[in-house]
Amino acid sequence: MKPTDTPKTYRVKSFGCQMNVYDGERMAELLEAKGITPAPEGEAADMVVLNTCHIREKATEKVYSDIGRLVKSGAEAGKEPLIAVAGCVAQAEGEEIMKRAPAVGMVVGPQAYHRLGDMLDRAVKGERSTDTDMPEDAKFAALPKRQKVSPTAFLTVQEGCDKFCTYCVVPYTRGAEISRPFSDLVDEAAKLVDAGAREITLLGQNVNAWSGEDAKGHAVGLDGLIRELAGLPDLQRIRYTTSHPNDVTDGLIAAHGEVDKLMPYLHLPVQSGSDRVLKAMNRSHTAESYLKLLERFRAARPDIALSGDFIVGFPGETEAEFAQTLDIVDAVGYAQAFSFKYSPRPGTPAASMPDHVAMEVMDERLQRLQAHLNRDQYAFNKASVGKTCDVLIERKGRKPGQWLGKSPWLQSVFFDSELQIGDTVRAELVHAGPSSLQGRLLEHAVA
Ligand code: SAH
Ligand code: SF4
Ligand code: F3S
Repeated sequence: MKPTDTPKTYRVKSFGCQMNVYDGERMAELLEAKGITPAPEGEAADMVVLNTCHIREKATEKVYSDIGRLVKSGAEAGKEPLIAVAGCVAQAEGEEIMKRAPAVGMVVGPQAYHRLGDMLDRAVKGERSTDTDMPEDAKFAALPKRQKVSPTAFLTVQEGCDKFCTYCVVPYTRGAEISRPFSDLVDEAAKLVDAGAREITLLGQNVNAWSGEDAKGHAVGLDGLIRELAGLPDLQRIRYTTSHPNDVTDGLIAAHGEVDKLMPYLHLPVQSGSDRVLKAMNRSHTAESYLKLLERFRAARPDIALSGDFIVGFPGETEAEFAQTLDIVDAVGYAQAFSFKYSPRPGTPAASMPDHVAMEVMDERLQRLQAHLNRDQYAFNKASVGKTCDVLIERKGRKPGQWLGKSPWLQSVFFDSELQIGDTVRAELVHAGPSSLQGRLLEHAVA
């Protein structure tokens, strides 16, 4: 690699989960603290961070094709962009990327990106570097303070996973479960609110495994943190994701009935409706124990909107087992959901299990599952028509004069009136579509 000038502009491209997006925002802040500014849209950036995701197949191949594209478009613009590969593919395949892609100057894992600035200094001198260490806790303390944020902000409270579901790479790419300290989180949340956030989504691979000590030294769980954050006067909404059925506590369920700012929405993945498959996945809950949990959430907060994740075609999944997934979907009536075809990940136990399901079978099952999920999402939206609720305006819609916000149940709500990003408006939901609603403005609500 040749020495180069310090980059003036950057672009961060995030490909993964919300935590990956959060990491992308923090890396952007770090580059901005070094005086590097976002590249204007449509212009080649001097430095590009590919913030990758390893959760399903093709991610790695996609990284190489993205690198190829960057080199080509850089050459067309007469420059050689400085390329950093970050995120979970960097963690899993850092060495390999360095070997295969000479255009890459830096490889940095999700637990080490606070050192991106130093790596950049080295890259400017012509030295390539890889950092996939997992130092505990150091990252957040070393990041610059939050400044400008959108009305809806992410806050990572917990990282890593000790669950080792047999299909999943996350425990390997993100490491063991750690909880950020209570006081750091309260501090960061207050800064986010000062910077304009009105809704904060607490993030973690197993966010409800978060634990800490409050200001008085009492042990608290996620519900304790939520209750504390609810005390921030200008914060209107709190959400959290993703939770794991095994880490649900009585306190968290109770918070849904007691904390007004905690939105009536729960993303609680079940993955499959078959107990045999769940066991093979190492999920350590059953279809029935999952349904019982949901009943308790519904008892605490009857209007709670439910969401989940599903995998079809886990090794050995039979038609009858898949049908049990459709049954659990029918029993729950999800407001939203994410569904995936099983993707073998190198090094995970499921990848070497027998009886992999043929791609055509997975395609067909995914289609059937999504038909059920789409039906239920539409039904949930239709049942919302006539309700009055607050909507937090997040952005302009695609059509001129159109604005878009989220209902408490995380539905997209469109308005044809002139509004402002960050406004909270009181609205009647007047028309439902399969994935959004039309709102009628009643009044601008005060915070
Ligand atoms: N920690 C969260 C989310 C993990 S990743 C949880 O446990 O729920 C998000 C989703 O990706 C998972 O819930 C699962 O549905 C899906 N997923 C993970 N590994 C996968 C794989 N190998 N193939 C297909 N889907 C996968
Ligand atoms: Fe992956 Fe399971 Fe951990 Fe979720 S709980 S991150 S699916 S291993
Ligand atoms: Fe992907 Fe890593 Fe998130 S693998 S889903 S970016 S934790």
